[in-house]
Amino acid sequence: METIPLLKEKRIVLGITGGIAAYKACTLASHLTQAGARVDVVMTEAATRFVTPLTFEALTGRPAYTSMWRTSDEALPTHIAHVGLAHAADLLVIAPATANTMAKLAQGLADNLLSTLALAAQCPLLLAPAMDVGMWAHPATQANVAVLRERGAALAGPAQGRMASGLEGEGRLVEPDEILGHVRRVLGRDGPLAGRRVVVSAGPTEEPIDPVRFLSNPSSGRQGFALSQAAVDRGATVTLVTGPTHLETPVGFERVDVRTVEEMKEAVVEASETADALLMAAAVGDYAPTEVAAQKVKKRAEDLTLRLTRTPDILAAVAERRSKTDHPRFVVGFAAETEDLLENARKKLEAKSLDLVVANDVTAADAGFGTETNRVVLLSRDGESMELPLMSKSGVAERILDRVVGLLKET
Ligand code: C5P
Repeated sequence: METIPLLKEKRIVLGITGGIAAYKACTLASHLTQAGARVDVVMTEAATRFVTPLTFEALTGRPAYTSMWRTSDEALPTHIAHVGLAHAADLLVIAPATANTMAKLAQGLADNLLSTLALAAQCPLLLAPAMDVGMWAHPATQANVAVLRERGAALAGPAQGRMASGLEGEGRLVEPDEILGHVRRVLGRDGPLAGRRVVVSAGPTEEPIDPVRFLSNPSSGRQGFALSQAAVDRGATVTLVTGPTHLETPVGFERVDVRTVEEMKEAVVEASETADALLMAAAVGDYAPTEVAAQKVKKRAEDLTLRLTRTPDILAAVAERRSKTDHPRFVVGFAAETEDLLENARKKLEAKSLDLVVANDVTAADAGFGTETNRVVLLSRDGESMELPLMSKSGVAERILDRVVGLLKET
């Protein structure tokens, strides 16, 4: 797991309460730590029946706290461990959060280290409830959750599915990486793009030839999804318009699924009308079959000729609207090239009225379509160019979003 700049050096108190889902908190503690956060685990007595403090100490490399009266961190005087941890925290996450602990928090009880710390904390609170169906549905739990929400607590889940009891229903802890997504949303919400709207396009487009065949390209959607996540990390409201991909929707943004160029154009133009920035990372098809066969095309002759027609240019449609409405304020385009990278990218910058173009040579095996990594050059309107080394698509997204923050600051 890669470092997440938003989480780097952040102090997260991870509260763990007593439910079987506590085993999933191990993965969460590990991922938060690997992402760069400083994770202090606080367990209730019941939680230690399911997993041990030692597990978390090994995963986080830090002491795990279980009691008001003892602390293994010698730097903290025993009696004020709760205050010290609470005041230093950037975020308090309780996962799994039992009905009992949520009831205590709603009431303001302070009868163990976690509930006392929660009362002393001034940082945001994220709860990932986990309990049996009936306990979650109970009016008492629902009333407590409503109180906590009202006070500003964020909730991750619970999810629908099979319980340890064998029952099916709402009450499952959401998966650790989804909780991580909520952590990013909550920590990022006051970031430099708070109050800004960002539209991102991602993935390939598909143009049907007949009911079972289509023209497409190997774009995975990864770069566009990474851009969306980097925008959420900075507090933006994000709409992601994506062609067909296998990627799961990360937490915190609106996803619009489309198939053809025409559908993508409509969705992007509409979403861009109120946007501050459009990041057009989708690999949009340039041609579509002139006619779509109503039935599956049969094999008959040796040769088959497909007649193709140019698809509309989405960025051109956006540029036309932009000239009237002034939205989106900034447009970032992508230039996937197999030759004369910089020259072609510069031409695209002009022709498509872009503020920034992200140029990549898609002939490289480790960059471009379908890969985990990318190597790009950023060219801006003022002629400045910045060549980035080979890095993950998330790393590229971080750098692009830093530029977008810079561009928007000037407005
Ligand atoms: O012209 P070319 O396809 O190389 O330009 C790439 C950029 O233009 C990308 O940002 C892509 O998303 C966008 N594009 C578009 N509409 C098309 C084709 C590409 O907006 N029909």
